[in-house]
Amino acid sequence: MNAQLKPANVSFREIQTSDLDAVMQIEIVNFPFPWTAGNFRDSINSGHICVVLEIDKTIIGYAILMMVLDEAHLLNISVAPSHKGQGLGRYLLDHMMQIGRERGGLNMFLEVRPSNVSAITLYESIGFNEMGVRPGYYPAPNGRENAVLMGVAL
Ligand SMILES: CC(C)(COP(=O)(O)OP(=O)(O)OC[C@H]1O[C@@H](n2cnc3c(N)ncnc32)[C@H](O)[C@@H]1OP(=O)(O)O)[C@@H](O)C(=O)NCCC(=O)NCCS
Repeated sequence: MNAQLKPANVSFREIQTSDLDAVMQIEIVNFPFPWTAGNFRDSINSGHICVVLEIDKTIIGYAILMMVLDEAHLLNISVAPSHKGQGLGRYLLDHMMQIGRERGGLNMFLEVRPSNVSAITLYESIGFNEMGVRPGYYPAPNGRENAVLMGVAL
């Protein structure tokens, strides 16, 4: 899906706390160690940029962006399993990069599990490069898993 060709029924808006039930339904199936509703609430209260992607007013995806001076840090991005592989993750990431630019971001960073091939493929296709590894960053079934730190110029 091309960012210039926004489908009429897809829209973005800020996450409200009343959205958290719908967001959590996606979060718990998408991540082995999901965020809690409290984590989302903390992000909202901290002033992070918290966005839902809707199709016909139904929440299909969401993303959380933290700005620190001229750095944009993508803390979460997720698309409902029923709608994966349709270009919506790319569209949502494009949207968050645009917001990062508008807020004065020069670079965007994120952490990703090395086992998360679909996410890494998406990030690389957009131009993210590996910047380093954070050892034992994530909980994993058998201990901890490293994070790959990726970044792109905005
Ligand atoms: C990562 C995620 C957001 C991608 O969303 P999506 O809507 O499925 O992705 P898109 O349809 O926009 O695909 C964009 C690109 O991602 C890559 N991709 C998506 N699914 C893939 C898969 N199963 N295998 C390999 N690459 C894949 C491709 O490069 C694809 O581009 P292409 O269609 O031109 O080949 C989604 O898979 C998701 O929510 N995963 C669970 C949550 C998660 O892991 N978030 C990232 C945490 S770091």
